[in-house]
Amino acid sequence: MKKTILLIEDEPTIRLGLQHFLASQGFTVTVCADGEEGCSAIETNTFDLIITDLRLPKKNGFEVLARARAVSPSSGVVMMTAFADVKDAVQAIKEGAFDYVAKPFSNDELMVLLDRFFAFRRLESEVQQLRRKLGQCPAAGSFIGESAAMKAVFDRIEAVAATDAPVLILGESGTGKELVANAIHELSARADGPFVKINCAAIPENLFESELFGYEKGAFTGATETRKGKFAAACGGTIFFDEIAEVPMPLQPKLLRALEEKLITRLGTHQPTKVNVRSMYATSRNLKELVASGAFREDLFYRINVVPIALPPLRERLEDVPYLVDFFVKTYADQFNRGELSVSGEAYSALLSYRYPGNVRELKHAIERAVIFAKNGVIDLEHLPDEIAASLTGTPCLKGTQTLEESVKCMEKTRIMKALAETSGKKQDAARLLGIGRKALWKKMKDYGIE
Ligand SMILES: Nc1ncnc2c1ncn2[C@@H]1O[C@H](COP(=O)(O)OP(=O)(O)OP(=O)(O)O)[C@@H](O)[C@H]1O
Ligand SMILES: [Mg+2]
Repeated sequence: MKKTILLIEDEPTIRLGLQHFLASQGFTVTVCADGEEGCSAIETNTFDLIITDLRLPKKNGFEVLARARAVSPSSGVVMMTAFADVKDAVQAIKEGAFDYVAKPFSNDELMVLLDRFFAFRRLESEVQQLRRKLGQCPAAGSFIGESAAMKAVFDRIEAVAATDAPVLILGESGTGKELVANAIHELSARADGPFVKINCAAIPENLFESELFGYEKGAFTGATETRKGKFAAACGGTIFFDEIAEVPMPLQPKLLRALEEKLITRLGTHQPTKVNVRSMYATSRNLKELVASGAFREDLFYRINVVPIALPPLRERLEDVPYLVDFFVKTYADQFNRGELSVSGEAYSALLSYRYPGNVRELKHAIERAVIFAKNGVIDLEHLPDEIAASLTGTPCLKGTQTLEESVKCMEKTRIMKALAETSGKKQDAARLLGIGRKALWKKMKDYGIE
């Protein structure tokens, strides 16, 4: 793909000359004659490199640089200074410019600089790729999952991070949807840009548009100043719509339009502006059902359901629990300065036999609490929340002190008692429920001393 360069220069002869030269070197060149024009170009497109003059009409090179850092952090900036003013040039580099050239400069001089820039860029992306391969990305390490289901999720995250595709993250509450959104952003080329989260369930319907699109001073009563919306704040980065199913029906068409055209209009203006954002969505609701029942627009559903990532509930990947327990114990022991902590056998069994309706969040909070209550460096059954501890006392057959035979017998007895309770003591029905004969049931009841 051709590399793209934005050239901002007010002097027509220099501009034309450079434009021709850069085009002849195989670059796709966009030109602007003043700083303001330059800034709006940066807002609408992503350039590999921006070459800007320092002294420009309307907005100067520093303002262009600041805009580029804010909305398009992946673009490099090279500053041209007419006066070989080293102080300004150094300042520009401090503020994030890649380098500067002092006018007048030759085409060769410029080419050397550009070669250096693109070589640097290549190295940078290689380092990034290697880091990902090594699993040293910021998100890895704190995102635990050893089950096949979670490994598949991680593969998805990596694959989709390399693209700008919309992602729909599905899963029960507490399964890690927000963590997935964060990880994708961190692994993407937009990692240096903003990550803006919107909790769609928390915004009152009448404020939705102003939150999202921003407003102009005086657009409505109470609009005492101009404010940019979440879309504009996410420029150059990622916008994450949490609880997307809760977007009020009347606003869904407006959201759809913004997502489709990437154009937003501040309340109180009529001029739409282009936004460069990547969007992600999460919900714990069944969107297909909502579409079927008319509570969610089908066209919006198709717009957001491009790459779905489904997180399985924790009870369907209990093999992850030991890893999560270790990770959270370490994390909180560090955080609360509790030194080395271990988990007793019984506490561990309880943690492993619980079903976690609140998923990872519930486990995480349970461990946080247990780390605080732990005594003598040990987390014991009594330090766990009642419902988790009860998962063990509820199955007294899995105590660490029992032999296998004792556990099996205990389990059999418990099961028989449960069947009898469910059938109000009717042996015939209980036997059928258990899939054994009436005689066999009667014998077992005698063996176990069940009345
Ligand atoms: N696989 C995981 N490894 C480590 N921590 C996790 C994992 N999954 C979830 N967590 C932690 O559990 C908590 C809940 O996760 P998160 O907020 O991402 O869930 P959610 O799916 O967005 O829930 P909700 O639908 O309630 O918003 C967070 O503190 C998160 O860091
Ligand atoms: Mg969430």
